[in-house]
Parts: sequence; structure tokens; C-alpha cells
Amino acid sequence: MSADIKILLAGDQEQSKTHLRGVLNSFEKVDMISYRDLKAELDRLAPDLIFLIESDKESSADAIEYIHAVNPMALVVFIAFSQNFDVLKSVMRAGIIDFFILPDENAMLYGRLDSIVQMVVQRKKQLMETAVSSQSFKRGRGKIYSFYSGKGGSGKTLISSAFAQTLKFESTAQVIFIDLNLHYGGAEAFLSIVSNRSFADLMPVIDELNESHIRNVSQVEKLSKLEVLLSPRDAEVAEHLPEGFIARLLRTCRRSYDFVVVDLPVAMNIHSYAALEESDKIFYILNLDTPSINTLKQVEGLFRRLGIETEGRLEILINQVGKENEIKPNDVKNIISYPIAAKFPRDFKGVQAHINKSEPFRKEPNEKKLIPFAKGIRKWVVQMVE
Ligand SMILES: Nc1ncnc2c1ncn2[C@@H]1O[C@H](COP(=O)(O)OP(=O)(O)OP(=O)(O)O)[C@@H](O)[C@H]1O
Ligand SMILES: [Mg+2]
Repeated sequence: MSADIKILLAGDQEQSKTHLRGVLNSFEKVDMISYRDLKAELDRLAPDLIFLIESDKESSADAIEYIHAVNPMALVVFIAFSQNFDVLKSVMRAGIIDFFILPDENAMLYGRLDSIVQMVVQRKKQLMETAVSSQSFKRGRGKIYSFYSGKGGSGKTLISSAFAQTLKFESTAQVIFIDLNLHYGGAEAFLSIVSNRSFADLMPVIDELNESHIRNVSQVEKLSKLEVLLSPRDAEVAEHLPEGFIARLLRTCRRSYDFVVVDLPVAMNIHSYAALEESDKIFYILNLDTPSINTLKQVEGLFRRLGIETEGRLEILINQVGKENEIKPNDVKNIISYPIAAKFPRDFKGVQAHINKSEPFRKEPNEKKLIPFAKGIRKWVVQMVE
């Protein structure tokens, strides 16, 4: 079990992180992060054990308090470079299981590593047992999947809503769909939902947000029982959403649902940024033409500048595959480095018929007669949940 533990090295000095990575070379799951990225990434990475390295600029005690607030089960070991009693006292007070002053206590760190790991393993085991006995097993770490593209009209809303509904039909998972197109919405038409409620109604309770608040505001798609959080569809309301709102919303959803499916607008703002940061996977929707490829390259640059990690996270969904495509799906592999998760056909007739009637693509599990687009989505979902 010790091979299973997830370790996070947090600090601003690359050299110390690399050194510690060496000390921990028998562990596979080790992530490294700066103080600055800790806030955005901690919830997603969900480490069991954190080595927090002293920083010149940032308060380690504040960082530890933040860690305990977001992830109360994680254990923290502090790494200092000098015997500053004030610093050590403050981190002890914030809650750590051990500290080491490097390089003097390097040997001591090696010596104690086993017992620290044992402590983490014990803690994990206890947690699993209480989770099983309180029937809350598996809850608490749902996946957040965001659907994005730098190009408007590429199929983000169509694919994300069909994905969420199909996932609900093809599995026993708890699924919630969130429409983050703050100004115009869009998903309500594909899912045939009429309501004035939106996640903006959660603003007054955001600081104590829990599952029942969310269920009070969410709508249910009647056929699949998919839960849906609609967008406020109002520029003024969107203006007033505080920074941190979306991160809070997504983290609470992740604790209560197995899958949180997020439909994003093209425009990048603090809320889309927050959703991308929290996501376990970002599905980028690509059409097979030169402008779409160029836009992807631009988005890549934007993500890099914003520090949004794409490695192991961003996957491509090719949409509108058809005979008249300018580029062939196989050529895409040579142009881009991201994995291609699925391809969906251009299905003008089938898709249009559903949109005109404002009818979702799926009506029941194991449906026989599906339009080609819905078949494509089902194939992808089935292969994902297997
Ligand atoms: N595979 C497809 N087959 C047929 N039509 C499609 C397909 N994908 C998308 N479309 C068409 O493109 C339109 C736009 O799709 P959608 O609203 O999902 O795009 P979007 O990326 O969410 O757009 P926006 O940037 O405005 O949010 C749909 O109404 C549909 O008519
Ligand atoms: Mg859309």
C-alpha cells in the first residue's frame, strides 16, 4: 500500500524539490508544485503526504492552514534551512507531523521516512474503514471534466450535454452538468429544461456550500435524471460572481458526485480559468479545418502563459468528421501532440431534428435506434466506464 500513497513536494526552490524527489525515488506518485500554484492545484492533486519547503517570500504557516482547510486528511512534513525558532513554532502550531532542517538533518530524514510513510498508510486505512462503515465509500473524489475550445460553434455544448446524459444512462454514476456560459447559457435547449434557477442562486450560501444547497438549485433532466446547474444567462449577475465562487462550487460538487461535467464558453475569464484549473481532464473540441488547428495553437500559448497544465490532462475530441473535411483525422496526429479521445461524425440531419424539437439525444438506457452522433458519444462513454 505504501507504493500507492500520493506525495506532493511544495516549495519555491527548484533545487530543494529535486533533492527531495531524489530522497523519495522509491515512490511513484510524486508531484512538485510552487507555493503560488498550491491554492489552485491542491484539491485536484489530493495528496496524502505533503513536504512543504520553507520559502523566503511566502508564509509556510499560512500554507499549512490552507492545506488543512482544503484537505484535512493530508499530513504535512516541514523542510527548513535554518533553525529559526519563530518559523518552526508557527508551523508546529499550524499542524505538522515532523520537520527537518536540511542539509544537517538529511540522514535523519532518510531514517524517519519509513515511519512517516507508515503513519500515512495507517491514516489511509482508517479512512477507508470509516468510509465503508458510513456507506460514503467512493464519494469525495469525483472527476471534473471540462469541455472547451477556442473556437465558437465547434460543438462544446452539444457534446458535453450529450456526454453527461449518456454517462447517466450507461452507468450508475452520479453525474452533474454545469453550464458555465454565464452570459447566454445554451445547454438548457439541448436538454429541454425550462427554469429560472441558476447556480448564481448559490451566491448567498457559497461560504458554507453543501450538497443539499446544490440539489435545491439544480434541475433534473427528466429522461436520464441527469442533474443540471444552469447558467444565470445574465451579464450583470455574471459580473457579480466573486472570484473563488467557481472553485468552491466545483469542489463541493466533486465531493457529492462521481462526475462533474462542465461546459465552457470560448471567452477566457477568471471563472473559466478556475474551472480549467480544477479539472481532472480538459476535453478540447476540434473541427477538421485550418482555422481550428490555428486556434488550438493559440490556446496552447494562452494556457502556457496562464500556467494551465495540459500534460496528461488535455485530450482532443474531433467533431464533425465527414467526407468534405479539409484535414483527415489521421493527419491531426502528425500536427498535434495531445491524445485523441474520440471522434464524432457530422450528423446534420440527426442533430438538427433533435435541436428543432428541443429534444435530448437519449431517451432510455440500451436504446436501439440512435442517430449517428449519439452512437458516437455512446461508444466513447461505454469505453470510458468499462
Ligand atoms: N457533430 C455534429 N453534427 C451536426 N451538427 C453539429 C455537430 N456538432 C455541432 N453541430 C452544430 O453546431 C451547432 C453549434 O454547436 P454547439 O452549440 O454545441 O457549439 P459550441 O461550441 O457550444 O458554441 P458556442 O461557442 O456558441 O458555445 C449546433 O447547434 C449544431 O447544429
Ligand atoms: Mg456552447
